[in-house]
Amino acid sequence: MTTLLLSVSALKTLSVYEAILNYWYPLILLLIFCLFLSCEYYAYKTGVPTIASFPSARRKIIEILQKDFAARAPAARSYTIVDLGSGGGQLSWHIARALPRAQVIGIEISWIPWLRSVLRQRLRGPSNLQYQRVDFWSYDCATADAVVTYLTENIIARVSKKLRRELKPGALVAANDVALRGDWQPIDSIPTGFLKMQVFVYRQS
Ligand SMILES: C[S@@+](CC[C@H](N)C(=O)[O-])C[C@H]1O[C@@H](n2cnc3c(N)ncnc32)[C@H](O)[C@@H]1O
Repeated sequence: MTTLLLSVSALKTLSVYEAILNYWYPLILLLIFCLFLSCEYYAYKTGVPTIASFPSARRKIIEILQKDFAARAPAARSYTIVDLGSGGGQLSWHIARALPRAQVIGIEISWIPWLRSVLRQRLRGPSNLQYQRVDFWSYDCATADAVVTYLTENIIARVSKKLRRELKPGALVAANDVALRGDWQPIDSIPTGFLKMQVFVYRQS
């Protein structure tokens, strides 16, 4: 009897295994291909691939924000940080954890990185972090006390104009690797210690 039960269970295991091989395997491959295609589509559409800031740059950006927060945000006032193009959400997640009294908003257009960010936030917090799946060209940065960017040369001039137009006086911009253009003059540029990459710091006049 035991042998019979064991054989039945072995057969079941085998058929599940076969089903996975015959049916799920191509489906999983198709799913991976669609995820990849979606990311490629948004990289092509926006001109910016989803790449997370390196940990060394992340640490510098957090230090810059902590300093600005300490200098500018009295106890009761809110302090909002916007990650313009938040990708998979790693940078904004670390910022939100390092600055628990700030509100952190990640703006991302690409579905897969956005979904990853939201899932991580739902599973692990922190509660001062939210993600919005929107095109940042239609997002008004007027309420931001600080904006962080890690974008590309092809769109940075347009982003620079947008930030100049929308940011309130005194707002801070920390631009990872790619400096703002136009009339923005950095108040600081901090080497990240990785290759020749720098974080450029600006203050809205
Ligand atoms: C290089 S990643 C940076 C991710 C994150 N900020 C970091 O530093 O780790 C830039 C992200 O900006 C997003 N992006 C580019 N143009 C956008 C737009 N118009 N609206 C929203 N997100 C955009 C891209 O999809 C990409 O995920």
